[in-house]
Amino acid sequence: MEEKKRIFSGIQPSGALTIGNYLGAIQNWVKLQEDYQSIFCVVDMHALTVRQVPAELRRRTYETLAIYIASGIDPEKCTLFVQSHVPCHAELAWILNCYTMFGELSRMTQFKDKSAKHADNVNAGLFTYPSLMAADILLYQADLVPVGIDQKQHIELTRDVAERFNGIYGQTFTIPEGFIPENSKKIMSLSDPTKKMSKSDENPNGFVALLDDRDTIIRKLKRATTDSGSEVVFAEGKDGINNLINIYSCFSGKTIKEIEREFEGKGYGFFKAAVAETVADSLAPVHAEFDRLMADKPYLESVMKNGASQAFGMARKTLSKVYRKVGFTQI
Ligand code: TRP
Repeated sequence: MEEKKRIFSGIQPSGALTIGNYLGAIQNWVKLQEDYQSIFCVVDMHALTVRQVPAELRRRTYETLAIYIASGIDPEKCTLFVQSHVPCHAELAWILNCYTMFGELSRMTQFKDKSAKHADNVNAGLFTYPSLMAADILLYQADLVPVGIDQKQHIELTRDVAERFNGIYGQTFTIPEGFIPENSKKIMSLSDPTKKMSKSDENPNGFVALLDDRDTIIRKLKRATTDSGSEVVFAEGKDGINNLINIYSCFSGKTIKEIEREFEGKGYGFFKAAVAETVADSLAPVHAEFDRLMADKPYLESVMKNGASQAFGMARKTLSKVYRKVGFTQI
């Protein structure tokens, strides 16, 4: 049997996950786990590049793992783990830092954005963030990295650094490819539909958090910004209504054409209420499973432990190869 290709991806436990993360990343992973050898990580070390409240970081790490599982990621099929539990990430990141140029890191748009946003805390970790991300991916010899379009530049850098290293020392790392699903719909902010929905939006009405309660979900979607028209039609320039059509399509499985037909002559208000109910109904079972998992910390910890030991087994192989190649002594 041909070996399955390997995928790696991760999410930071640094804020409430939104329905954008759910539809764009997690739902996609749920499908991929069937066909790929899948490794999914809660990247808590990356979260530290922005100041965190320790107790909240800890809680969110459990929550992120519980969300993965509640959404259908199966710890029996995938390796699910927390980044800081596998020390190889920090170790390889250091090495890769020595093969990544200051100029390359300076060009990263995420660095530029985040340093503008956190001007009082432009720390070295924020700058070298992509080296840690490259380490995450390269340690596991991942073939594909399912990410959003905003991470494309980091994947390109990972490839460049891996190629550079392979060029100097011979084949060491698999050169990964970004895997940005074609049909993935970008979910936009509900308050400003020209911007991506973001968990770090200061306006909480801009996003629906995956864990928002039913009433909040319904209120936020009913209040979503739309243009002054009234027809539920997907069209250029109608960012607000297009976004709601996309959200409805993702949760209901209906196509845009079917949705336009369903709401013909019904008006925005009626449509928004339907979107709100559908999203709330779809998330209800995820919430129930999430609550059950969060009440069972020993189970979540057993998943973390198992995942960490599987991940460590794979990561350590790559790391010792790298240590040997760069000329570290082995005892
Ligand atoms: N940087 C990614 C993000 O902000 C998260 C991440 C960290 C990641 N390490 C990764 C994604 C490795 C994919 C692979 O979304």
